Amino acid sequence: TPIKRLPLDQLPRLKNDLLVRAYLGQKTERVPVWCMRQAGRHLPEFRALREAGYDFFTMCQVPELAVEVSLQPLRRYATDAVIIFCDILVVPQAMGMEVKMVSGVGPVLPQPLRTPEDLARLNKKPDIEATLGYLMDALNLARQEINGQVPLIGFSGAPFTLFTYMVEGGGSRTKDKVKSFLYKYPQAAHEALQAITDVCVEYLIAQYQAGAQALQIFESVGAEYLTQDHFYEFAFPYLAQIAERVREAVPATVPLVGFSKGTQYAYEKLSYTKYDCLSLDWQSDPTTVREQVGGRVSLQGNLDSAAIYAAPEVIREEVSKMLKKFGTQGYVANLGHGCAPDFSPENVDTFIKSVQQISFEMNSV
Ligand code: CP3
Repeated sequence: TPIKRLPLDQLPRLKNDLLVRAYLGQKTERVPVWCMRQAGRHLPEFRALREAGYDFFTMCQVPELAVEVSLQPLRRYATDAVIIFCDILVVPQAMGMEVKMVSGVGPVLPQPLRTPEDLARLNKKPDIEATLGYLMDALNLARQEINGQVPLIGFSGAPFTLFTYMVEGGGSRTKDKVKSFLYKYPQAAHEALQAITDVCVEYLIAQYQAGAQALQIFESVGAEYLTQDHFYEFAFPYLAQIAERVREAVPATVPLVGFSKGTQYAYEKLSYTKYDCLSLDWQSDPTTVREQVGGRVSLQGNLDSAAIYAAPEVIREEVSKMLKKFGTQGYVANLGHGCAPDFSPENVDTFIKSVQQISFEMNSV
């Protein structure tokens, strides 16, 4: 059934806007919290849908299913945000590459890009509405159903992370194929990265127009394996360019969040780009990063995901330590990476409630 997309001014207004305020560095009465990969296999209600026979990309492409799965964490937890259910690898799909989600393995791209000649197979200017319009339907429908309870986050993979999957053909331990591509064919790498960047920019702007109230860019994979020289040549400029170009098209009230995993040396330079908030991985030290970024950006993160396996008292203690390091302003609590499939929902709930209670108490004294 076709989705009726409402224009932005007819969508429900935000009631709990803590997340947006914290991303933009405005005062908040407590710290907002959500979890990367909060929708997914750690929730029995998600597994039930998967077991009903829906394959992963079908769940992304059928707006009613994507919205149902996006809203599952909101029904179960007091999370301060919904992130739309999709995957970063829909961008390579839109550019003409096959991507399969193989259970027990993860993403597989059967025809990876290994030489400059392979780039000819890429559709460098896909029609975003024709290829990814289902996500805009899902975002708009999600806004209607969330009814202003919390903000809705849209997202995209960062160009180098996407290029890594496109060259490696899936997960990879050493990233040797993409790394050697950079040494052998730097010019072709830049051409591919620029084409991916163009798609991401258009895709993120379309997500805003469909109803996304914050946009996160995931540099989750690949950049952490690069030399700093290569990071600053092949990853950073495209990350910066996305924020710059999206910011020109999207009002300043819609925060842009950058997550660059394993590149701690880059926070200071990233703080001078157009991102409003930088998301920290679990190895980054909040106190150090606050100093590096000055007051230029808000921060998000970064509880070690493994802490979620601990007893409730330990989770509370870790949250308390984390809040003291970040402070309660210009801060969105999150995990340092995503929820794992074997997380207990009770412990995720403990994490979320601890952030909300402890930060509220900290602000009251
Ligand atoms: O709740 C949310 O965060 C929204 C949904 C979301 C998914 N993927 C769903 C998903 C988001 C934001 C992503 C982003 C994503 N996808 C990233 C960046 C964030 C990160 O984790 O660093 C990356 C690197 C991917 C690529 C990807 N997709 C991998 C490596 C895998 C396999 C690993 C795994 O957990 O199975 C996926 C599959 C995937 N994406 C699943 C989900 C819920 C599991 C699919 C299944 O049900 O089998």
